[in-house]
Formats: sequence, structure tokens, C-alpha cells
Amino acid sequence: REVAGLRVDASRQPWDEALRRDLTLWSLQKGLDTFRNAQFAGEIVNRSEARAARHCLLRAPDHVLNAKHQSALAATRLRFLEVADKIRQDPNIRHVIHIGIGGSDLGPRLLVQALSSIHASGLDARAAKQPDIHFAGNGDLHELEAVIARLNPYDVQIVLCSKSFSTAETLVNAERLKAWMNNESQDLFKARSIAITANIKAAQAFGVSDCFDFPDWVGGRFSLWSPIGLSAAVAIGSEGFKSLLNGAWDMDRHWLESDPYENLPWQLGLLDVWHRNAMHYNTRCVVPYDARLSRLPAYLQQLEMESNGKSVDQAGRAIHHASAGLVWGEPGTNAQHSFFQWLHQGTEPTPVEFIMIERPDHSDHAAHRKLLANALGQSLALLKGKSLDQASAESVKLANPSWSREQLAAHRTFQGGRASTIISLNRLDPSSLGALISLFEHRVEVAGFLWGINSFDQWGVELGKELAIDIENHMNSSQIHPDPQTALWIKLLEV
Ligand code: F6P
Repeated sequence: REVAGLRVDASRQPWDEALRRDLTLWSLQKGLDTFRNAQFAGEIVNRSEARAARHCLLRAPDHVLNAKHQSALAATRLRFLEVADKIRQDPNIRHVIHIGIGGSDLGPRLLVQALSSIHASGLDARAAKQPDIHFAGNGDLHELEAVIARLNPYDVQIVLCSKSFSTAETLVNAERLKAWMNNESQDLFKARSIAITANIKAAQAFGVSDCFDFPDWVGGRFSLWSPIGLSAAVAIGSEGFKSLLNGAWDMDRHWLESDPYENLPWQLGLLDVWHRNAMHYNTRCVVPYDARLSRLPAYLQQLEMESNGKSVDQAGRAIHHASAGLVWGEPGTNAQHSFFQWLHQGTEPTPVEFIMIERPDHSDHAAHRKLLANALGQSLALLKGKSLDQASAESVKLANPSWSREQLAAHRTFQGGRASTIISLNRLDPSSLGALISLFEHRVEVAGFLWGINSFDQWGVELGKELAIDIENHMNSSQIHPDPQTALWIKLLEV
């Protein structure tokens, strides 16, 4: 099936046409189409936070926004893209430092890494002069220190991204940057920082006057389409960013309008449910055959696991079936030299998603064919396997002279029958990447709805944060922590 520059081949999965039809019918009986339409119409689908989840609107064309009385979104989009181009063209700005974590980091980082090299390789004449984009999000300041060690504060634009503007890691990094810049010149930080947040007051109190906001119905992990994407827009230009939004919107329309049986996110969401609840696969491996997509697995980890890693339904009752599993991966071919042994011969059959880019942005087509042949070869190997008879029939040198041919053949057999999906993008460009991310977002919504859970909250991240604050308070005082093991560590770690 080909949609918005993407082809999806799920024929090597443990389902057939009849099963797909049954699953589709079941999802319709559960009311997936009603849920989809309600989400798009802005109904409260995030019940624990009493919020809608309308991030799709961020990529809707202006006329759709105007018709939906959302012209303020179009105005903000216009303004932030103008700012992005201004930064991109400002000869005094040679570096952008993007601060943020989770959804305020993973999306922009993925976009910049995936797309800026295209724009630097000739598609955009200005590209050679555009600023370098650096990211620092980790609560470990070593990440930021490594960035600023090489920079002159006068060359830098800061982009602070935090929906809440209260995230501890972001504030630690922002404080350090403020000191670093103001140490050079009073008020340099204020002059050179922009905050993107749903909490403008907190950003202003921190000392940033140039702010963009976005509605609270944009969840952090769905926010790259909002001004949170500013750094990425600097990297690829406003036209590139619009093309990203258009690609995503093409996929949205396919999701909203096409027949469920032909609908890619619908079908992939069903497959995810089938994998977890019928096949009992615990994990899914995503392998992009493009080094530029190396952050895609990390991006998907937040999207899928923060959305659907839940154990209660929307009403707060325990669910009695599995919800999201672990998503993991690495770019191919690197992964072939690390964990593919496990995928082929390990004891835990695991579905793999191969992501291929049909046309490269370099000129060595023979090298690119070799790369694609590897992706196809791995998918075929997982499916076909190699029987003991086939392995025994092959003439292989016996390294151990006391071994029989059959004995070695046992090591060289592959069970086969292992599932994989192939997704290809005609090129890695803003439009196709937008469509791919939108596809993943909607499949998460499908699976979350069918599991009966709320895909749009993330209460599971709170407890650890609360305990960390309490432990930090104990570290800063002479009070002994009530948990003996923690108390011992506090004593050992005296910083
Ligand atoms: O810790 C989880 C989380 O709340 C994510 O959902 C979010 O993307 C991230 O932290 C960052 O939050 P903020 O954008 O508010 O700084």
C-alpha cells in the first residue's frame, strides 16, 4: 500500500486477509471510527487531564484552521516560521542551542538529524551558512558543557523548549546557559533566548521575554509540529517545515478518510494489538536503514511507550490484557553487526520493522543498492530461515575435525517464520518524514483505543520525579532518609 510517499508491506506478518478483515470488523464494533472522529473534532479524549488531543490541527492548512475557528494557530505558525527564517539568515548567529527533554527534545532532534544534511548538500543555496543546531536536554550538565566549551556566547541563539516550563533538567540547563551568557555581557541571555512553552508566565519569570506558546491540548510527545519545532525549522527553513506539515497532513487525511481496511495507521495499530495480545510478542524492533534516522527508535520509544505503557483504562479500572511492549532499535546495517544474531537465532521471536529510503541523497547508487539489499535480505532471512537439511547440504569447512557435518549444521540453522514489516519512503525529505511520524502517531492512537487506555497522559513519570526531589532535599540537609538503602547511598555519594 502506498500513501503520501510511503509504501508499507506487512505481508510477512502472522496474519492473512481473513484475519485482517476480522480484526478490522472488531475495531469498528469497538467504535474506533467514532473515537477517531471525536479526537479530531476536539472532544475530551484525555480524560484524566480533561483535555482534547488535537495535535493534528497543527499541521492543517490555513483554510482548514480558519474554517475551524483556529486562525490563531495559523497566525502563530506564520510568526514562528518567520522567526526561524530570520535566525537562519542572521549572519551573527552561528549556533542555535536547543534546550529541552522528552517531547521537547526528541522530535526536533530527530528532524534536525534526519533532514539538515539534505539541506546542507545543495537543495538550499543558503544552507552552507545556516547555523549549527546543538541539543542539550539531559539533567547531566556534561552534555551542555561539551557544547558550550566550543562556542562564543555572542554567536549563539538559545531556544528553550518546555511545555510546563518546570521540568527540572530543562531548568538546570537553562540556568547554566543564562550564567554563561550573562557572564559575557549583562542581558545577553535575554536578548538571545526564545522560550516555547504553554506556561509563558514561568518563562517570563525566568527572564525570557521572547516567547511562543501552544495550547495545552498538544501533548509533549506530539508537539514537534508546534513552535517546539523552531530549531528544526531553522535547520530546514520555513518551506522545509511547511513541507513536513503537509506530508503529515496527507497522512492525517488518509487516516481520517480512507477505508479502514486500506487505512495504514488503522491496520498497523491492529497489527500492534495482534502482536501483543495474540502473538504475545514483548517487544518490537525498528531498524531504519539510514544513518540519518538513528534517533527514530528513541523518538518512537517516547511516542509509543509513554502513550500506551498503561495498566488502567480511561475510567481508572485495571485492564486485564497486555498494552504496549518495548520498542527498540538501531540503524541498519550497524544493527546487523550487534543484535541481529539474537533476532535470527535467539529464543524470543520478535517482529522487526525495516525502514528503507528508496532514493539516496548521495550519488553512489551502487552503494545504496547494497544497503537496500541488506534490508531486504534480513527480512527474507527472518521469514525463510534455513532448515537443518539445508544447512547440512551446504559444504562448509569443519573447523573442529572431531565434529560431524550435522553437528555444525545445527548452529547454522535458522528457525524462520519470523515476522517483519517493510516501510519505504521514496526519499528522506520533510514531507515523507512528516507522513511517517503521523503514521506512527495514529497507529499509537489505534492501539491505545483498542486497549481501552488513555494514550495522552503520562502519570507514570511522576513518582520517580517526586522521590528524586525528596532525595535531593535529604542530600542538601543533615536529615537521614527513611529508606536505609537510599540513606546509605546518600552518605556514599557526598558531592
Ligand atoms: O517526564 C515526561 C514529560 O512530562 C514528557 O511527557 C514531556 O515530553 C517531557 O517530560 C518534557 O516536559 P516539558 O516539555 O514540560 O519540559
